Amino acid sequence: MSHDEINPFRIDIFSLFPAIFTGPMSESILKRGQASGTLDIRIHDIRDWTQDRHRTADDTPYGGGAGMVMKAPPIVEAVEAVLGDAISTTHIAIMSAGGRRFTQTLAREFAAKSRLALICGHYEGIDDRVGHILNADELSIGDYVLTGGELPAMVIADSVSRLVPGVIDAESIIEESHSATGVEYPHYTRPVEYRGLRVPDILLSGHHANIEAWRREQGAERTAHWRPDLVSEDESD
Ligand SMILES: C[S@@+](CC[C@H](N)C(=O)[O-])C[C@H]1O[C@@H](n2cnc3c(N)ncnc32)[C@H](O)[C@@H]1O
Repeated sequence: MSHDEINPFRIDIFSLFPAIFTGPMSESILKRGQASGTLDIRIHDIRDWTQDRHRTADDTPYGGGAGMVMKAPPIVEAVEAVLGDAISTTHIAIMSAGGRRFTQTLAREFAAKSRLALICGHYEGIDDRVGHILNADELSIGDYVLTGGELPAMVIADSVSRLVPGVIDAESIIEESHSATGVEYPHYTRPVEYRGLRVPDILLSGHHANIEAWRREQGAERTAHWRPDLVSEDESD
């Protein structure tokens, strides 16, 4: 029996703004995954580990410059307290615009682990020592700058959660975009005709081999159209 069958997959998220997570982490598939005991997602307020009565979690940057920097002690102490002995077996990642790019390959890699801890930065970012002390990964969800790490943490938690065995139907995640090369084929559902556009006849034919071939071809066309960068990546392999 694997650990997945015994324990839920646990994600701990550390943030200065825990209320941001209320909706997205408690609806739809993630809600069902948590209700069924497959997922265990916990949000922690970093300010609970501050030491002064103002619950100060940030300070001015050494060396000068604009903005505030999130202090190391509350974050390090929060992660150590929450993870306890599991700290050595948990994949800890700091959300960072300058980190390595988060991809579906990493989502699959993380879903195969037992625990994930995500640390959300804000303001100018986090004191660099946090990453060294916690031996943390740094992840970016794309080449743009957001106001905080909360949305990236939600993106990562969501994409990893749906790959955890038992969260969604296993068949749904076999053929989707980025699972092999390129993006997925187009989908259609009722009505068969809408505003003059008909569902392609082949999908109504019931001929599974032809449908599969058509979907492969459509996936390749969509990849070339929307993500030509993936086509050249594959060709250079
Ligand atoms: C305003 S940003 C800080 C940007 C930082 N000064 C820089 O230039 O890289 C505040 C926080 O948002 C998060 N963040 C912003 N963009 C992100 C991205 N593309 N991926 C992951 N986290 C991001 C990080 O946690 C970051 O510490």
